[in-house]
Amino acid sequence: MGATKLIISALLLLLFLFISTSNATPGKKLRARHRPCKRLVFYFHDIIYNGKNAMNATSAIVGAPAWANKTLLAGQNRFGDLIVFDDPITLDNKLHSPPIGRAQGFYIYDKKDIFSAWVGFSFVFNSAQRKGCINFAGADGPLLQKTRDISVIGGTGDFFMARGVATLMTDAFENQVYFRLRVDIKLYECW
Ligand SMILES: *[C@@H]1O[C@H](CO)[C@@H](O)[C@H](O)[C@H]1NC(C)=O
Ligand SMILES: *[C@@H]1O[C@H](CO)[C@@H](O)[C@H](O)[C@H]1NC(C)=O
Repeated sequence: MGATKLIISALLLLLFLFISTSNATPGKKLRARHRPCKRLVFYFHDIIYNGKNAMNATSAIVGAPAWANKTLLAGQNRFGDLIVFDDPITLDNKLHSPPIGRAQGFYIYDKKDIFSAWVGFSFVFNSAQRKGCINFAGADGPLLQKTRDISVIGGTGDFFMARGVATLMTDAFENQVYFRLRVDIKLYECW
């Protein structure tokens, strides 16, 4: 009798341990997955070359469809234009605030019937406060949507192995020459 009781208690204990561990692990992972481990908000400022502002421009059309040219953005929602940029990043929404890094990469306008783009770029930091890169990629569209989510695909230095989502918001758009994006970075993997 005593031995059977002992075996049953041992089995119950094992069962309890099994249930508690198998519940705890995915629960924790799930919560970790849905709550950012780091949140950062930056702005960057893009001044598009328009044939007259070569000194001031921070971005340029480097590819255009055969029916357009590299001086002015193409018709039909700029479809087919490929733009390379090297834009200042600031902590607030002011163009002339001290830049804390550079946003460098490209965007391609990829839809004829609406404003839509595909973006690939890095935030490059090299100061006493921040060193390293955050790398972004994804569909940024429709551009007239208030916010768009793109992927944070990796990072280096202070942002080693960064992974998550960045919510882009067009904070200003002026005279077909200047736009400012607010970038709300939510990292779900932090090292
Ligand atoms: C580029 O195309 C625009 C029309 O989209 C035209 O006004 C301009 O003259 C063209 N510029 C050059 C350098 O071909
Ligand atoms: C450069 O362009 C921006 C945006 O259009 C403008 O606010 C700024 O005054 C320009 N700077 C110069 C020196 O033209």
